Amino acid sequence: SMLLDPNYLRDHIRTVPDWPIPGVQFRDITPLLQNPESLRVLVQHFVLRYMHQKIDVVAGLDARGFIIGSIVAYELNVGFVPIRKKGKLPYTTIAEEYELEYGSATVEMHADACKAGDRVLLIDDLIATGGTMMAGKKLLERLGATVVEGAAIVDLPELGGSKLLREAGLKLFTLVDFA
Ligand code: PRP
Ligand code: ADE
Repeated sequence: SMLLDPNYLRDHIRTVPDWPIPGVQFRDITPLLQNPESLRVLVQHFVLRYMHQKIDVVAGLDARGFIIGSIVAYELNVGFVPIRKKGKLPYTTIAEEYELEYGSATVEMHADACKAGDRVLLIDDLIATGGTMMAGKKLLERLGATVVEGAAIVDLPELGGSKLLREAGLKLFTLVDFA
């Protein structure tokens, strides 16, 4: 079946060479989202994994984590909270800075977006260096939440992010690896 075929999702991800800069193989999930069948298969993978894990809220990382995260939240019958790039959220925020290949970035979350003890599923589309998801984990834990698992469509294991995240104690679930 499509849910069990290990190459089904991979075959709907497009690789764009040298974007946004020379040497990067950009793993583009837009074809996976655009096709109604692959979108449904994608969502089913996450829903089947998390439907019995007592998730209280789904947190999605800006920006591609919002797309899949909000669909999964809807299907799990829980709410969705955005973790946004700096300067976008209007109310009281907490912030975490993280390192990029060149320079740094900051993500923010509303201080009342979840509460102590909440069981949170943290979602993004892709894990590269792991910095984005690590910052999200820290924000959620500062509010006293439990990050049940980090989930992403794609892992780029050679960039070491998934290893770092697991070493930091985060359980991770990813669907497709690209070397
Ligand atoms: C990409 C991707 C992840 C992050 C992964 O987002 O969607 O959020 O990078 O990289 P990392 O593991 O090294 O942190 P990007 O910052 O390009 O923003 P976008 O979602 O707005 O395109
Ligand atoms: N974010 C960081 N690296 C990426 C890549 N190679 N493809 C898509 N998104 C990314």
